[in-house]
Amino acid sequence: MAALCVVAAWTGSGPADASARCPWMSKALRPSARASKLLAAMSTADKLALLTGVDTTAAPYADGGAGYAGYVPPNPRLCIPALTLNDGPAGVADGQIGTTAFPAPLAQAATWDPVLEQSLGAALGWEAWQKGIDVLLGPNVNIARVPENGRNFEAFGEDPFLSSAMAVADIDGIQQNPVIATVKHFPVNSQETNRYSVSENLDERTLREIYLPPFVAAVEDAKVGAVMCAYGLVNVVYSCQDPNLMGTFLRKELRFDGIVVSDWNATRSAPASAAAGLDLVMPTSANAVTTLASGIDAGTVTPQLIDGMVTHVLTSMFRLGLFDDPPPPRQNVYLSHVSTPADEGVALQVAEESTVLLKNAAHALPLHLGAHETIAVVGAPAGAATSAFVGGGGSAYVTATNAVTPLQALTTRAAKAKDDVTYADGSDAAAAAAAAGSADAAVVFVYDQEREGYDRADLELPAGQDQLVEAVARANPHTIVVLDTGGPVLMPWLDQVAGVVEAWYPGDEDGNAIAAVLFGDAEPGGRLPQTFPTSDTALPTASPDQWPGAGNAQDAIFSEGIDVGYRWYDATKIAPLFPFGFGLSYTTFRYLHLKVKTRGSKVTVAFTVENTGRRAGTDVPQLYLDDPRAADEPPKQLAGFERVDLQPREATTVTLTIPQRSFAYWNTATKAWTVAPGLYRILVGASSRDIRLRGFVRR
Ligand code: BGC
Repeated sequence: MAALCVVAAWTGSGPADASARCPWMSKALRPSARASKLLAAMSTADKLALLTGVDTTAAPYADGGAGYAGYVPPNPRLCIPALTLNDGPAGVADGQIGTTAFPAPLAQAATWDPVLEQSLGAALGWEAWQKGIDVLLGPNVNIARVPENGRNFEAFGEDPFLSSAMAVADIDGIQQNPVIATVKHFPVNSQETNRYSVSENLDERTLREIYLPPFVAAVEDAKVGAVMCAYGLVNVVYSCQDPNLMGTFLRKELRFDGIVVSDWNATRSAPASAAAGLDLVMPTSANAVTTLASGIDAGTVTPQLIDGMVTHVLTSMFRLGLFDDPPPPRQNVYLSHVSTPADEGVALQVAEESTVLLKNAAHALPLHLGAHETIAVVGAPAGAATSAFVGGGGSAYVTATNAVTPLQALTTRAAKAKDDVTYADGSDAAAAAAAAGSADAAVVFVYDQEREGYDRADLELPAGQDQLVEAVARANPHTIVVLDTGGPVLMPWLDQVAGVVEAWYPGDEDGNAIAAVLFGDAEPGGRLPQTFPTSDTALPTASPDQWPGAGNAQDAIFSEGIDVGYRWYDATKIAPLFPFGFGLSYTTFRYLHLKVKTRGSKVTVAFTVENTGRRAGTDVPQLYLDDPRAADEPPKQLAGFERVDLQPREATTVTLTIPQRSFAYWNTATKAWTVAPGLYRILVGASSRDIRLRGFVRR
């Protein structure tokens, strides 16, 4: 990336002048040294101005305020560049145009492919920077506790190990650019119902083992530049005002030296939040400036506290290159098109790799129609030319750029096989059934609607779509259902259809990806990052006290504890509709030769995966640990995985090292990670419910 001394553009003077006036511009100094030099030159007013934002209409590149979620103006005298903040996890959002709509983060997790995720992060960060943005408000790493959560699509699913791996890869990619990534919403944000006021009440072990690990990984492994505290309360303390979690845990235990930013309008009292560990009050707060200033005058807010906050902001800015390579000043940046063919290529690969084949009776897929046959394509998401069905709603919503609809892509692809496509939008089930009845195969696209601010009432498909699927399936036994959903849905028609494919919210490359998968040009390479239940009641959070919460949904009681997602299904022996980790392939695999090696505390597991079919294909073998009884853990916990591509009859050795931490539980008596001595069973399989190899190790 070109190094630009763009500060000159802000100051109206040359780079040489800037570095003479601002010695902290010297790259020879460490970020912390640069921050302390600059701090020493700042007045109290300079400092306070860096701790909150102003209206985004003041941002030079925003279009009437659109395009940015937050804006901290520059301070030209001190060579401090502006901070521009934008969402988020699925692409550059907040009304920006000309950016790539990537598949939703839940889809990203369904790839189980951190290497690809890093490319996505790198593309996302680069697009942000081109748009004048230097703080990206993502990733969202809140664990999927409640499947009805309106932001279920926006994070990486129900498992802390998988979520951590995806988050680290995403942040690594974003921060390859001079852009600060923001891991959110700390520490817990499981539901949208009463999100500003609900207290999520959970025990320390559950917090440590399930909800905090992705934040820890983001800070320790990815060196994330910012952490966003959540709207709600945890154990009756506001998250943005919690001295134990922000102060003691994040600052002292994890030694996080970057920015803690509030969720938008989540700061109730700037002095109380500042004392607890918050740095940046977002989006705007004249009140924060006045209350902090009067606190300083009254002696209730110490100058050291303010200096600490400013140092955090500056250190991240220096470390991630915001001073050295701020976004280039450009005319009409709002109108600029920054999505590149390479970025769309990443979006396409993620969309294909994330597509999960849930059912494939009698090899209904890939579609292998003869010449001059007809496919009836049904459903609104197939024909929509807008972004309505390619992403979720709220701050993560990205305006689709030239989204290719499934109808367009399937028509083009079918023509190559000399097949025809007909279309019914599904608003009239009888018309859709008639179209399906006179076709050789039917593909029905259905959707759910997830958006920030609202939980789904239940897991049923909305708008009578179950009846639509049933009508089409009655008319044509070769019916394939494509789910464009942001999470689990119920499938009362499952026995009546030949195939089911989960395509999530697929982003711009929607049509291209689904056409490639349905016709077998691409492998449906995804595996579920979240359990799909059989009903609304067979859920870890089925009691109203758990979700939306007791006392008029003001107290969400996490009585399931660490039994979140598949951990609960395993512990209660309740069969899910589709288990965590599940996904079929167009070929078949077998696993053999499990070997467990130990050297000191290091445990390495090796096994062979062989493609036993006649097509090339992708598999995601998964390693779960079953701890000794004394640890009192759920029956299985993910501790390793790898994505492998294999030619027909090809075999490969997969070697996984089990992280030390995976053997430990959080001991509430000693307040430490503890390894229970005993036998740990090592379970290797194709999903959490399809264990093929077993071994053990003693610890
Ligand atoms: C969301 C955050 C988002 C922020 C800025 C809030 O409503 O909870 O995730 O980053 O808005 O758009």
